[in-house]
Amino acid sequence: MSENQRKILVTSALPYANGPIHLGHLVEYIQTDIWVRFQKQRGHQCTYVCADDAHGTPIMLKADQMGISPQVLIDQVSQEHQRDFSGFMVGFDNYYSTHSEENKHFASLIYTRLRDKGHIARKTITQAYDPEKEMFLPDRFVKGDCPKCGAQDQYGDSCEKCGATYSPVELKNAYSAVSGAKPIEKESEHYFFKLGDFEDFLRNWVDNHVQAQMIHKLNEWFESGLQNWDISRDAPYWGFEIPDAPGKFFYVWLDAPIGYMASFKNWCEKNGVDFDEYWNESSDTELYHFIGKDIAYFHTLFWPAMLEGAGFRKPNGVFCHGFLTVDGQKMSKSRGTFIMAETYLNHLRPEYLRYYFAAKLGSGIDDIDLNLEDFRLRVNADLVNKVVNIASRCAGFIKKLSDGQLSDTLVNAELYQEAVEAGDAIAAAYESREYSKAMREIMAIADKANQFIDTAEPWVLAKQEGKEQEVQDCCSIGINLFRVICTYLAPVLPQVAEDVKAFLNLETLNWDDIKSPLLDHRINKFKPLMQRVEEDKVNAMIEDSKATMASTAPVISTPLTEEPIADTINFDEFAKVDLRVVKIAAAEHVKGADKLLQLTLDLGGETRNVFAGIKSAYAPEELVGKHTVMVANLAPRKMKFGVSEGMVLAAGPGGEDIWILEPHEGAQPGMRIK
Ligand code: MSP
Ligand code: ZN
Repeated sequence: MSENQRKILVTSALPYANGPIHLGHLVEYIQTDIWVRFQKQRGHQCTYVCADDAHGTPIMLKADQMGISPQVLIDQVSQEHQRDFSGFMVGFDNYYSTHSEENKHFASLIYTRLRDKGHIARKTITQAYDPEKEMFLPDRFVKGDCPKCGAQDQYGDSCEKCGATYSPVELKNAYSAVSGAKPIEKESEHYFFKLGDFEDFLRNWVDNHVQAQMIHKLNEWFESGLQNWDISRDAPYWGFEIPDAPGKFFYVWLDAPIGYMASFKNWCEKNGVDFDEYWNESSDTELYHFIGKDIAYFHTLFWPAMLEGAGFRKPNGVFCHGFLTVDGQKMSKSRGTFIMAETYLNHLRPEYLRYYFAAKLGSGIDDIDLNLEDFRLRVNADLVNKVVNIASRCAGFIKKLSDGQLSDTLVNAELYQEAVEAGDAIAAAYESREYSKAMREIMAIADKANQFIDTAEPWVLAKQEGKEQEVQDCCSIGINLFRVICTYLAPVLPQVAEDVKAFLNLETLNWDDIKSPLLDHRINKFKPLMQRVEEDKVNAMIEDSKATMASTAPVISTPLTEEPIADTINFDEFAKVDLRVVKIAAAEHVKGADKLLQLTLDLGGETRNVFAGIKSAYAPEELVGKHTVMVANLAPRKMKFGVSEGMVLAAGPGGEDIWILEPHEGAQPGMRIK
């Protein structure tokens, strides 16, 4: 172990266990994973932990609606999340759950320490209560008319029409989003964390541990005063019961960040690592949290204050990032730009997106845009045409002339040296999360390598008598530069890095390895490392995304402001849609698909094979014999599981309530709906 080896613990925010991973989330997990891989490649001891954020009312209610226990729901979602993360090569050392023994232990420990030092207060508050469901309603679960502008169906905390903020009791015509019942007001005693006790500590801490752009925001919070934080919720609640308060539970955001510790503890136990060395108040290991700017309040105020109050170490940095937009707009379900990780992976290689994000990410909190056209062009130009091209132009000659043996000297040592020296600036850029700068510097080396080969023209020399050595020397330089470039890109492109190791016949692509060039070294046969991003694949992903989203409507309906009604179509356009009543002749599960069923639809004379995302609502056997409506003239679409020849129209909020017609309800197969 070298003397300057650092011990670093890194986390990404814990995704909620009630929804799938989408490309927005992946900004963060890819950003973090690149940083962790970089630290490991530099020889540091870096551990990356995460977990599902498994508690809270939305998860409890979702499980309820699905007719399963929260435990079954969170287990299922955890599997899906881990599948998606590994699909994107996000290499956690440990992926755990906040619903764990370790987390219960640390949540109780931190709470009791805070309580014993007088940082917990109690107060009776009045809250909206659903008398039918017999539960207190979080603000988001009370809806009604805005007290200011009168807009209907607004959430209990703020109006999406006029921006007013208010408390749920102020809503007019309020109703519970859970049962529809009229909420009543009810009193209950709550437990509060006295954040104000930590004001001096926080003002100091924030200045040295948060990005400048964030400090500005934090100052606003300090100005408006640090309020006591409500950390308890009444039963029924899906979470941990507060040790000295039966029937009261920790609010999900109390035990969520403690989940970082719990996941690490779980990893320490499995790997014989000393947990305390990392979490002691005086620890000299490093701790960093990567998060989105929306959850900065929790990570830059509550969390450090809790750690301070409970006698644990504080993070060395909380790194906030911005939000993902697609083609310049908020991700949208109807436009097909609310792209789930799984949908992307059915069409495109994960490293394309990893590279694209890297090429756009800086250390700040600005939003980042996935422009689909730019994405394709950029990846093709940089990775395929620039980087991979170097190897594909040189490898063949080396194989042919010397059976894969590189030259024993570097004819252009300066060029190689220049590429190695650029490594310091590239490393500094990675370290400070200026990935876009790192990518620019790496591509500048690739440009130089290509220019060198262009000038040397090995393909011309190869046709001349007696120039074999020259060709081999020039291509050996090319291969050596390619190795340096791939070493620099390895944190971003883990699979390419693996394939390059096999191609170059190397054990590692460590940062320091490149100090010695590959001389008189045998390489293996070159295999194409990366295909171009095809436009039709990108389009197919968007179409697939529209279809998937249409079949997985959220349980709580999306307000029109989030999902505006699409552009008007005229009657002629509408009339082109041929809607037919069809009989479901057969219905089967689709292997490997979570949401799809394969349906054979009888149009009264001809049958169609259609994949429909209604598995959440129906078992196949319940569907056979029933009638539904389909779009009969939709162009067939190739999906991962086969060709879908049309689309089933099912209405309803999703989940269990998708309505399908019974045969006795009138319409007969083949009938056109006008
Ligand atoms: N469960 C909390 C975090 C608890 S951490 C102790 C949560 N979960 S989340 O699933 O909503 O978000 C997880 C992370 O993904 C957050 O850091 C969030 O900022 C990030 N993102 C979610 N949607 C995003 C975009 N559209 N764009 C970029 N990041 C986004 O918050
Ligand atoms: Zn309003």
